[in-house]
Amino acid sequence: MKKEKYNVAIVGATGAVGEQMREVLEERLFPVDELRLLASERSAGKYLNFQSKQIRVDVLDENSFENIDIALFSAGGSVSDKFASIAARAGGVVVDNTARFRMEPDVPLVVPEVNAKAITEYKKRGIIANPNCSTIQMVVALKPIHDAARIKRVVVSTYQSTSGAGRKAMEELGRQTAAILNMREVEKDKFPHQIAFNCIPHIDVFLPGGYTKEEKKMIDETKKILADDSIKVTATCVRVPVFCGHSESVNIETEKKLSAKDVKAILREAPGILLVDAPEENVYPMPLDATGTDATMVGRIREDESIPNGINMWIVADNLRKGAALNAVQIAEILIRDYI
Ligand code: A2P
Repeated sequence: MKKEKYNVAIVGATGAVGEQMREVLEERLFPVDELRLLASERSAGKYLNFQSKQIRVDVLDENSFENIDIALFSAGGSVSDKFASIAARAGGVVVDNTARFRMEPDVPLVVPEVNAKAITEYKKRGIIANPNCSTIQMVVALKPIHDAARIKRVVVSTYQSTSGAGRKAMEELGRQTAAILNMREVEKDKFPHQIAFNCIPHIDVFLPGGYTKEEKKMIDETKKILADDSIKVTATCVRVPVFCGHSESVNIETEKKLSAKDVKAILREAPGILLVDAPEENVYPMPLDATGTDATMVGRIREDESIPNGINMWIVADNLRKGAALNAVQIAEILIRDYI
């Protein structure tokens, strides 16, 4: 018999994404029976609010997942590596926001607007992977265009906010900005260079060949989510001094010719997309406008006049929501609607 309410755990509940997971569950009236908030010893004894109740944060351990139906993980790859299979063995379904399982062939990598059907594959290991934040917002926009005209190649440059690197990274941007404006010494911790008043073309570690792991994630995950290895993708990922909201300049080459007007018409109807494209009125997507919202905003749509079938566009979304917490909760909504 189907349950009316579900026991949900958030692993990494005190983090930037964990906080959004709690908010999104509450906002979308997810049928939560018990909400178990899990973090490290550093957070032991903390209380966080959910549905007007104060819930104690527990320290994550092997016994944390008893009676849990759905476990949302966002505490880093090593925590997922150790605990995701423990949660799955205890009978729950894991939605993992880290990179740990994304490219494993028996773990589905899901963006509900794009490949919701892949969720069924969770039965193999009890784990569903939530894609990289920059990948999610890009594929939401690419999918309907790919269906209409087959995308042959994507060239993407990202402008990623500090919240993508976690709560402490956002705080570092704030502290550095205040220090500079007050002529104090700048302290660095989360980024390899000062992020305030700067752009750093380096996210995650460098790999042989000169790409970063973040860029590789965008390339590999796009192919897996769109279930099409023939799409060529190249990426440059840049950290910018923005608190929240990732932006992307995306150039695509399609097999079939599409005009800018065609692309706008396609995206206007596409699930999860908000067309924000009236340049004559200075209207285009920006991270400040996307923050706290659910939509993937697309604008600056124009033909790439340097090739026969090319389109340029600018894609912005709240990386903590659509790029992480919202996408995970949307997956959980499909799980309880169709599977558990
Ligand atoms: P804590 O606050 O106790 O350190 P962010 O991505 O914003 O930095 O957040 C990371 C989240 O992951 C936090 O909730 C953090 O908890 C949690 N976390 C980090 N390491 C561990 C660990 N070893 N065990 C459990 N939770 C962890």
